[in-house]
Amino acid sequence: MLGLDHGHLGPRGVVEDRVRGGQVVEEVQQVGAGPGARGGPAAGRVLADLQAPLGEVHAQRLHRPLAVRGADPESSLTPCPHGAHSTQDTRVVVSTYPAVVSTYDVARVRSRFPALAGGTAHFDGPGGSQVPLEVADAVHAAMVAGLTNRGSVTAAELRVEAVVSAARRAVADLLAVDPVGVVFGRSMTQLTYDLSRVLAKSWGPGDEVVVTRLDHDSNIRPWVQAAGAVGATVRRVDFDPATGELPTSAVEAVLSPRTRLVAVTAASNLLGTRPDVPAIAEAVHAAGALLFVDGVHHTPHALVDVGAMGADFHACSPYKFLGPHLGVLAAAPALLETLRPDKLLPSSDAVPERFELGTLPYEALAGTTAAVDFLAGLVPGAGTRRERLAVSMAAVDAHETALRDRLEAGLRALPGITLHGTAARRTPTVLFSVAGKAPREVSELLAAVGVNAPSGNFYALECARHLGLGDAGAVRAGIAPYTDESDVDRLLAALA
Ligand SMILES: Cc1ncc(COP(=O)(O)O)c(C=O)c1O
Repeated sequence: MLGLDHGHLGPRGVVEDRVRGGQVVEEVQQVGAGPGARGGPAAGRVLADLQAPLGEVHAQRLHRPLAVRGADPESSLTPCPHGAHSTQDTRVVVSTYPAVVSTYDVARVRSRFPALAGGTAHFDGPGGSQVPLEVADAVHAAMVAGLTNRGSVTAAELRVEAVVSAARRAVADLLAVDPVGVVFGRSMTQLTYDLSRVLAKSWGPGDEVVVTRLDHDSNIRPWVQAAGAVGATVRRVDFDPATGELPTSAVEAVLSPRTRLVAVTAASNLLGTRPDVPAIAEAVHAAGALLFVDGVHHTPHALVDVGAMGADFHACSPYKFLGPHLGVLAAAPALLETLRPDKLLPSSDAVPERFELGTLPYEALAGTTAAVDFLAGLVPGAGTRRERLAVSMAAVDAHETALRDRLEAGLRALPGITLHGTAARRTPTVLFSVAGKAPREVSELLAAVGVNAPSGNFYALECARHLGLGDAGAVRAGIAPYTDESDVDRLLAALA
């Protein structure tokens, strides 16, 4: 039975001063959602100022009593007696699980996310992560800076060029790829559909395309439909439903000299399973085929190196790693040069522009750059952006894995809970069912106490069916860089 414990709810209130050279230059009130939660207008502030590393911000937490949901969040705030640098708050967490030991300063990270101020525990990151002020401010700043379309004459045109090239360089640092091979699009799904049609121009009857049942449908259906349109054959790879593992040998078993492309996920958005992509890449390349890797669920949780992974194509979505709604496809420029997508006559035929249909969402590109910078600053430090990403993503990985272990230990201790997926390498994404309750019912009960852990198949439809969960799937709790121990404990307490 679900005992829903309102006593564990812990709304937060945070007021921050942005500090430059010892002087307070702006106050950001971070209580509640909506326009009132933002600080002073971003207009006029340069992008670089908005993207200052987290280390330049000090936070003052304010205390307020528990159980004031629905009340005016600001009226019950009182200054924290521990002073300006305190990261304490008044949340009462009753925990019987091992404490998470980490140098990662999650309180400092959380203080940048206005959406967390309302007190909701967000386990819905795999569907779309929350966004820090730095990203929202960069989007705003781009929109009011005076942009037009790309060009080389006016200041507005040059600003757009700068936004586009900054975003390509940021994504290149994030994925360790060449900025010239970074293609932007509306979503990973759109980019994958577009690419599948281009690649299929050279396929025909007798050619084979490989997909896996572990994947999100966006890395299955475009390939199945593109293959079907030209008479190519689709081969499917199954994962082990007992463990969630996708053995490399299962991929190897379907490869042949006729294989043209293998599409596999770097991490399952349902089970978290992280297949051994470099080993799969070796086998795929030995067969003379191309490898397309869906990195959408993997990219927020680990330092990605597309070359080391062996991916010929790698897709991801900034809105899963604290950025705006956008899709990214990365590949070697030389490979992209060989492909001829359908395009408008007057639009650029250069790579990567050849693949970018229509006008790009420049404000979302500015937000993407800010998201990469934010990730690089999760652990303050020096070095190139790539070096800082390496340090920060290692810390995120350790923080999230510790929380996942805490969550899984807690769930295992509860009666009637079934955990799905125990792959040796997996992201901090936990899928579970509650005996006697439909997945949606569990999510609704959790949502009622401010814990967002949605249910469903999350478009990993073949995966959910192969697990025997049907289309209703199960409940998914995804851990993000801003998740903390008390979020986990609130989820466990609500299920107890
Ligand atoms: C693993 C995975 N692949 C692909 C997608 C689709 O991404 P987009 O929404 O950018 O098309 C998602 C979205 O949830 C996902 O989780």
